[in-house]
Amino acid sequence: MPAVPRYAVFGHPIAHSLSPRLHALFAAQTGLALAYVTLDATPAAFASAAREFFAGGASGANVTLPHKSAAFALADVHTSTARRLGVANVLTPLPDGRLEADSNDGAGMLADLASGCGFDPRGHGVMLLGAGGAARAAAFALLDAGVSRLTIANRTPARAERLAELLDAPPRVQVLAWEQLATAGVFDLVINATSAGVQHAELALPASLVTPHTFAYDLSYGPAAQPFVAWARAAGCRVASDGLGMLVATAAASFLRWHGVQPDAGAALQTLRDPPA
Ligand code: ATR
Repeated sequence: MPAVPRYAVFGHPIAHSLSPRLHALFAAQTGLALAYVTLDATPAAFASAAREFFAGGASGANVTLPHKSAAFALADVHTSTARRLGVANVLTPLPDGRLEADSNDGAGMLADLASGCGFDPRGHGVMLLGAGGAARAAAFALLDAGVSRLTIANRTPARAERLAELLDAPPRVQVLAWEQLATAGVFDLVINATSAGVQHAELALPASLVTPHTFAYDLSYGPAAQPFVAWARAAGCRVASDGLGMLVATAAASFLRWHGVQPDAGAALQTLRDPPA
């Protein structure tokens, strides 16, 4: 009997990850047999742990914080998206033995903005809070999706300036200091790409950023997303969403990459949000 193909998500910490559950749901939907586990690796141990995993015949891995840059560096081949971002969240061994790195975070965010929130970024003005790795993936995806204006605000302004330079789309990209948020005007979409929620730190945001037509979206999910989602609701946004749908969309895209089968992301998200009694 052939061995069941093996997959994992690498992170640190990683015990909380919903990825094994998602891939098990997708496997059940599509009738595929697979094993998918969490693998905790410190930054110092990640590269050797991942190499060992693939040397042992594993068929793919997702990679989350804090290893997305290291995953990019580990790979032999990079998709054009990964190359542009310099980070990866999907590692796939190719038939010729090389390891491929891809990043599907931005595409996952766009998929969930469309199907979960009913938001099409084309022609809209977006406020992006944060300028780290998560913000970088979101920014490229939003520009590709046709936003008319992308305003980046970051606690450390130099980092926002660096992101703007990398994006290289001067007419559409603007940088603001955090202190200027109160006078920044209103936005169609406000994205929280900061790690304030993960770090249990306060994110002081003015309600003047939003109108009753504004969509608010946090790239994280679970307790980390709650303060921003609560702020957006209190400020009167039309939609206030966490990034659980984004996680499901990225998992579905990884599943498609590895198995060639499109799982039902909507059904899986429903199961996570509203587990059967
Ligand atoms: P990630 O890969 O999750 O994006 P990161 O690269 O460490 O993680 O970036 C974290 C982002 O959250 C940064 O934009 C950071 O701002 P700084 O560049 O000033 O550090 C932002 N951030 C973290 N805590 C914050 C807080 N309490 N208020 C505002 N921004 C915060």
